[in-house]
Amino acid sequence: MKKMVVAIDGHSSCGKSTMAKELARVTGYTYIDSGAMYRAVTLYCLEHGLFKGDAPDGENLRKALRDIHLSFQTNPETGRSETYLNGRNVEKEIRSMEVADKVSPVAAIGFVREEMVKQQQALGREKGIVMDGRDIGTVVFPNAELKLFVTASPEIRAQRRLEELTAKGESTTLEEVLHNLSKRDRIDSTRKDGPLKKAVDAIVIDNSNLSISEQNRKVLELFEEIAQK
Ligand code: CDP
Repeated sequence: MKKMVVAIDGHSSCGKSTMAKELARVTGYTYIDSGAMYRAVTLYCLEHGLFKGDAPDGENLRKALRDIHLSFQTNPETGRSETYLNGRNVEKEIRSMEVADKVSPVAAIGFVREEMVKQQQALGREKGIVMDGRDIGTVVFPNAELKLFVTASPEIRAQRRLEELTAKGESTTLEEVLHNLSKRDRIDSTRKDGPLKKAVDAIVIDNSNLSISEQNRKVLELFEEIAQK
């Protein structure tokens, strides 16, 4: 079977990462969470006073970018890939509502995207990769063999994310989560560089009414179909 690149894009909290992780697990591919990279840059900005109110301080962030080193390591206990910022495991912190609230303005900055896209392309050079995000099928890997565009209704997405955050001990409300998702989708879809949009050759999966196993089965079928061509 040929080695491929699988690009999974879609709206906030629509289950892309659950889908991508499972596909990577069953195929033996490497999973890369591109959103984690933007979240880690955002965490760095929060920790280094690089926000002016809600807006990132572009000038200082540009200087700081060379001091931001991102990497992924597999946790031997869980088998899951975790995000490191300058050698520190930040997997938990980057999933907070505080980071979610600030990430889209950071991810809208052209020079931040340029650097992240460069790193993402390097990670996919050897193929055998599943990457999820917003611009993976359009900008990062326009030649990906399999492109999926995932979506679900906003209410369902907010409910799923609320359950995830609550399970991690974060106290928030459905209203707050829904507001955050709509705000991020709006900023992500309307920015100039690498906006969230379906690649012309992407297959749309609306998983509002799909269970996780139904979703996984569907994706694996698509993968096998293309891998055998
Ligand atoms: O998990 P969720 O779908 O809510 O978000 P994420 O994939 O962790 O991405 C967090 C944020 O990073 C998004 O709202 C985008 O602003 C940004 N992002 C991006 O601009 N480009 C990507 N390839 C991935 C994420």
